Amino acid sequence: MKYAGLTIGVPKEILAGERRVAATPETVTSFVKGGAKVLIETGAGLGAFFSDEAYAEAGAMIYTDVKALYQDAQIILKVKEPQWHHELQIHETQLLREGQVLITFLHPASPGNHKMVQELAKGGVTSLTLDSIPRISRAQTMDALTSMSTVAGYKAVIMAANRIPKFLPLMGTAVGMIQPAQVLVVGVGVAGLQALATAKRLGAVVYAADIRPDAQEQARSLGIRVVDLGIPQELAIGEGGYAKHLSQKWLEHERKVLAEVVAQSDIVILSALVPGKEAPILITEEMVRSMKPGSMIVDISIDQGGNCALTEGGAVTEHYGVIVDGTKNIPGTMPTSSTAMFSKNVFNFVENLVQNGQIVLNMDDEIIRETLVTKGGKIVHGGTLESMRSRGEI
Ligand code: NAI
Repeated sequence: MKYAGLTIGVPKEILAGERRVAATPETVTSFVKGGAKVLIETGAGLGAFFSDEAYAEAGAMIYTDVKALYQDAQIILKVKEPQWHHELQIHETQLLREGQVLITFLHPASPGNHKMVQELAKGGVTSLTLDSIPRISRAQTMDALTSMSTVAGYKAVIMAANRIPKFLPLMGTAVGMIQPAQVLVVGVGVAGLQALATAKRLGAVVYAADIRPDAQEQARSLGIRVVDLGIPQELAIGEGGYAKHLSQKWLEHERKVLAEVVAQSDIVILSALVPGKEAPILITEEMVRSMKPGSMIVDISIDQGGNCALTEGGAVTEHYGVIVDGTKNIPGTMPTSSTAMFSKNVFNFVENLVQNGQIVLNMDDEIIRETLVTKGGKIVHGGTLESMRSRGEI
């Protein structure tokens, strides 16, 4: 059996407000069927509405002592990077042991996480990060970032629809026609496409803006109007077909083109990002001021700094009567759907990592090579090393 002899541990997430969990009763069933032992910390699934009983029925062992869970498991599956455990007064990195495998979102290149990654290396932990899964077709079923962007794009529109003071669709009423709201989505990647589809389903008049022709084409195929940003293709597309970081001159040009559409929009969803870079500022204070009072911006690129100059991370603020929403961890607000997707991504990732009950770190496999962060006491993740070097930390 594929997982015979393997023990997998799933602790409860401890970050404040985090309601997701790395395994569902469904994925536990699949692991157990494959011969694995699965250990679940009591209450781990409650935030996503999975009871201990449901996990036990799926074949998991419920642990009340999280230290024992960490000791007994060979693989630890988590959603968030290791944090300070207030209850135990210990950092989660200290719960992990030499040779143990940790699979989670580590965001290891982010400077705030460097110390944590160094601790993992020092402890001899083998850590793999789900945010570095390459966007190749073989890895699609493991791509947790894509899953979470899908949730964020959808929910961003719902959040805005809930707050703006008007209908989204065209409404024929006894007192006459009510015109539909206008929605602009800037950045048509995974999150943006989902935002476009959701806004269209709700009946708004929808516009899309992206610098990549492929993204524009995908928006058009959904029947969405595309704003012509006038950015030359060679400046817009970089290695592997990803967007390139634009120069200040071209960003200024883009802001000018966007200004007109922004001023007429009731909702602006911002999800523009160049991988590995800070998010470009595409909406200035002046542009926010030009919007109608009561309209709304949801800036989901906030983890990379935000696309709007006025967005505050983790806060909803108001400027000139316009609401600017910088909510972080949007997938955490939809724990059932996001956990269903995340846990399947993690299951597929583990399936790729294990052969005959053994964890095999096959460095010829691009997925394993790109996601491996620490191993044998060393940090091996390219982006993390580069970031640490640039800050003189190593
Ligand atoms: P993606 O890489 O698939 O898409 C980003 C898009 O932005 C690309 O289509 C790219 O061409 C476009 N872009 C780059 N520069 C641009 C510019 N100057 N003007 C217009 N478009 C430009 O990324 P994905 O997965 O869709 O994520 C988008 C954002 O959503 C990221 O910042 C990500 O971190 C964030 N996100 C936020 C969550 C939250 O809870 N707040 C959850 C999940 C994702």
